Amino acid sequence: MFDHDVLIIGAGLAGMRAALSARQNGVDVAVVSKVHPVRSHSNAAQGGINAALQDRGDDWRDHAYDTIKGSDYLGDQDAIEIMCREAGEEVITMENFGVIFNRDEEGRLGTRAFGGQRQARTFFVADFTGQALLHVLYEQIMRAGVRVYEEWFILSLIVEDGRCAGAVLMEIRSGDIHVVRAKAVIMAAGGIGRVFEPSTNALICTGDGMSLAYQAGAELMDMEMVQYHPTTLQGSGVLITEGARGEGAYLLNSEGERFMERYAPNMMELASRDVVSRSEQTEINEGRGINGCVLLDCRHLGEQVIRERLSQIQEIARDFANVDITKEPIPIQPGMHYQMGGIKTDIDGQTAVPGLYAAGEVACVSVHGGNRLGANSLLDTLVFGRRSGQHASDAVKSISHANVTDASADADRENIQGLLSNAEGGPMFGALRHEMGKTMNDNLAVYRDQQGMETALSDIREVRERYRSVYVPDKGKTFNTNLLFTIELGFMFDCAESVAVSGLERKESRGAHTRTDMPDRDDENWLKHILVKNSVDGPALEHLPVVITDWKPEVRSY
Ligand code: FUM
Repeated sequence: MFDHDVLIIGAGLAGMRAALSARQNGVDVAVVSKVHPVRSHSNAAQGGINAALQDRGDDWRDHAYDTIKGSDYLGDQDAIEIMCREAGEEVITMENFGVIFNRDEEGRLGTRAFGGQRQARTFFVADFTGQALLHVLYEQIMRAGVRVYEEWFILSLIVEDGRCAGAVLMEIRSGDIHVVRAKAVIMAAGGIGRVFEPSTNALICTGDGMSLAYQAGAELMDMEMVQYHPTTLQGSGVLITEGARGEGAYLLNSEGERFMERYAPNMMELASRDVVSRSEQTEINEGRGINGCVLLDCRHLGEQVIRERLSQIQEIARDFANVDITKEPIPIQPGMHYQMGGIKTDIDGQTAVPGLYAAGEVACVSVHGGNRLGANSLLDTLVFGRRSGQHASDAVKSISHANVTDASADADRENIQGLLSNAEGGPMFGALRHEMGKTMNDNLAVYRDQQGMETALSDIREVRERYRSVYVPDKGKTFNTNLLFTIELGFMFDCAESVAVSGLERKESRGAHTRTDMPDRDDENWLKHILVKNSVDGPALEHLPVVITDWKPEVRSY
C-alpha cells in the first residue's frame, strides 16, 4: 500500500497543473497516468489558449460575454467570470515556465482569431499548443518532486465513511494491483471521446474518470452537450485545427460556394463551432457535399504561413488523406471532439463526494455550457486544475488518512478474475466498442431526434448486456492491454448511457444539442442543467438552475 496527501488521476494539463499547485502548497502529491504524461490527450490540442490581456486593449468581460454566448447561455456565469479573469495570469505563468509562444512582429506574444470571439485573443504555439504546454508542465512537476505512477491504470475509487480516501490501481507492466491511500483525490482523467466513433480524441479517452466518479456517488452534469468540431478528416476523424480558419482558411461546398455566408454572415467560418458544424451538415444533407464532406481551403494562405503556423495539419493531411494543403482543399466533416458535460464541480473542483475533486474535460464547472469556444479548453484545464490543486492541498493539511486496508482491492481482483474466466466464444471488446461508437455517432451527433436517441439508448443497453460474457483471450499479467481495453469498455457504458438519457431529457435545442423534432431554444423551461446520478434503478435525473450574473440570455446569431 502507498500513501499520499493528494492523489491525482490523469497527467494531462489539468492533472499536472493541479499537481504543481498542490506541491507548491507544501503537501505530498502523486500523479497516476495510464500512459506516460507527455502522451496524454492534451497533446492533441492544436490551436491555442484564450486570454484577454488588458495591454492589448482586450477585457476579460468581453471574453466572458463571448464564452457565455458561445455556451448558448447554459454556462454558469460565476465560473466563467473566474476563468476569464484568471486567464491572462495563467498564460503568462506558462510563458515564464518556458512555453515558447508564437510572437507578433513587435516581439510580443502573438494572437490568432478563433471561433465565436470578437477579438483575436488566442495565444498559440504553431498548431501544437497543447503539446508545448504539456512538455513544459511535465518539466515543472519533475522539478517540484511530484511522484508519477507512469503506466498505472485506475480500477476504482475508495470511499470510506462517505469520503474519497484513495484509489485501487494496476501497475500495467506487472499486472499487480495496489491500494493507494490519499486524503484527497483529484480526478483529471480526461474526456469520453472514444465512446463515439470516429472521434478526434486519442484512443485512451474512454471516460474512465467520469464513470468511476459516478459510481462513487458524484453527479454528472450537461452530458447531452457533445461538441462536434467542424473540421475533422473524413474517415479517421483526425483534428484539423480551427487555427486554420483563424489564419484565414475558408469552407467551400461542392458548388465552390463559401456557404457560411448564408448561415453566419458576420463571423462566417469563425462562428461558434455548433453553428459551423450544423451549417456543414446541412450542406451535406441537402446534397451540396462531396462524399459526405465539405472542403477546407488553405491554399491562399501561402507556403510560409502554412509552414510556420500550420505545420502539423500539413503533415496530418498528407499522411492521413494524401492531400497537399498548399495545392488542394482538405475534405473535412463535423466530428466528435469534446464533452462539455462531466463530473459536476464547484469553482474549486469539489464534487458531491467529500475528498473527491475533478478538473479538466472530465469535469463540468460549468464554463462551456451548450457549446465550448475553441481554445477555452486548455484554459479550463489550467485555471481549474490549479484551483483544485490549491483547494485540495489546503484541505488535506487538517485531515488524516482514513482507515483503508489492502482489502479495498478485493472487489477489483474479483472483477478481473470474472472477466478472465468468461468462456471462449463470447464477444470481444473491439466489436462491442465499435457497435456502441457507431450508434452514438449515428444518433447523437450534430442533429438529433427522439427516435434516434431512443435507438442509441437501447443499443447501448443491449451492448452492455452482451459485455457480461465478453471474452478476454490474453490471460497474462504483463502489459495485458486486452484486459485493460475490456475494462475501459466497462467504463464507457456509464458515459454513453448518461449522454443518451440526458439528450432524451432535454426537450429543446440549445448549443450542440440540436433536435430536429424540437428546433427552438426554450429558456422558459430549459434554461437549466441536467444532472445524472447513479442509482440502483439506473441513471436518475435532476435539474439545476443556471447561474446568471450580468448577462441575460439573448437571441444568438453570428
Ligand atoms: O481546433 C483546435 O485547434 C481545437 C482546439 C480546441 O478544441 O480548443
